[in-house]
Amino acid sequence: MRSIAIIGAQWGDEGKGKITDYFAQTTDCVVRFQGGNNAGHTIIVGGVKTVLHLIPSGILHNNCLSIIGHGVVVDPEALQKELENLAGAGVAVTSAKLRISENASVITTYCKLLDIAREGASSKKIGTTGRGIGPTYEDKVARKGIKIRDLFDRDRLESKLQENLREKEMLFRHLYQVAYPSASEEAQRLWNLGKILQPYVGDTFNLLRNASLAGKKILYEGAQGVLLDIDYGTYPYVTSSNTSFGGPYTGAGVFAPGIEEVIGVVKAYVTRVGEGPFPTEIFDPIGDKIQTIGKEFGATTGRKRRCGWPDLPLLRYAASVAHLTALALTKLDVLSQVEELKVCYAYEYQGQQVDFAYPGMDWYQVRPLYRTLEPFSDTAQSLAQGIISPQLMAYIDLMETAVGVKVKILAYGADRQEIIFRS
Ligand code: IMP
Repeated sequence: MRSIAIIGAQWGDEGKGKITDYFAQTTDCVVRFQGGNNAGHTIIVGGVKTVLHLIPSGILHNNCLSIIGHGVVVDPEALQKELENLAGAGVAVTSAKLRISENASVITTYCKLLDIAREGASSKKIGTTGRGIGPTYEDKVARKGIKIRDLFDRDRLESKLQENLREKEMLFRHLYQVAYPSASEEAQRLWNLGKILQPYVGDTFNLLRNASLAGKKILYEGAQGVLLDIDYGTYPYVTSSNTSFGGPYTGAGVFAPGIEEVIGVVKAYVTRVGEGPFPTEIFDPIGDKIQTIGKEFGATTGRKRRCGWPDLPLLRYAASVAHLTALALTKLDVLSQVEELKVCYAYEYQGQQVDFAYPGMDWYQVRPLYRTLEPFSDTAQSLAQGIISPQLMAYIDLMETAVGVKVKILAYGADRQEIIFRS
């Protein structure tokens, strides 16, 4: 298998970092293609925890090249801090190990201010991470964005920022009344950061193309999940990028023979952080129990994640949208400690039974229909020996039959080693 993608099949936080990190051990390039430091990938190796926000998970492997593709939005200050943190943890990030597309978009102070001010003032909050993601993608689409290559020419940078600020200035002054740096101050700050990042910057498109031509193994590392996709997700409660199958194509480049395996990472239950519809959300103490045992706090913002029962109509939809060829079922150790198991097999929606979601449906109006399964109580020890109880098998069978995709990977703990391959 030369080229694989790892995609979140829910609302993010499915445990993609762990799966990516596992495959990165035998991969030549790991590529981020969308999102920014709104993501938080927690990786635990030998008990040591590393949280990556922007830098691809391949960075922990010496043999692996990490690429930040042109579809990513980069906060230069956050990236600099992440580089420092990695250095502090003894992970040397050389320019031979990390490459950043010169065409990636820059998250400016203005984008962050706008994100936070809008959320603060809105009566219908999205619950964004406040990292400036949405406004940066808006600038990109409006063709007013700052690109990484702009950081290296002080005058050009200032003039682009001046232009970029023209409309935002009205919002900062009159609508939100927030203080903001002048274009000159912001240009100086970004230019200083640019000097630090410059050694890592280049043409990642041809780097990836040549790696592909040379038969290298490439792993496309998704951030967030299909249900947060700007086009396929639970709009407007989504992020601003294509988190799904299209993302690698538009945000990094995919070359012959194309992506051969798309692994959808699925948490054994479902979580969501931020606002928005969540049909199978649990409001009773079981939800709190899952949240506590699963340590369900956002890796980026520390917010509590909402917890819910497995949702097959959503998973079927995600599998179809993202062309999933395999499922990786994670956090089984958490669900195995819960004495009840309900699985949503269909929705009641507008008076009909629906077993497949679609873009634009009113997710607030769906009523989940549940099947109660016998809970499983497999231990990490038994799973480590590859022993799967009939109860867990029944849950896996139900998922595979409903979705039509095989569960090829089971993950039952936070460590890289706590993974079982079923094929
Ligand atoms: P934004 O990406 O910061 O604009 O946030 C938009 C929505 O996506 C919010 O509901 C966030 O909570 C959610 N979101 C963004 N990044 C992640 C992530 O990495 N995991 C889970 N949710 C995320």
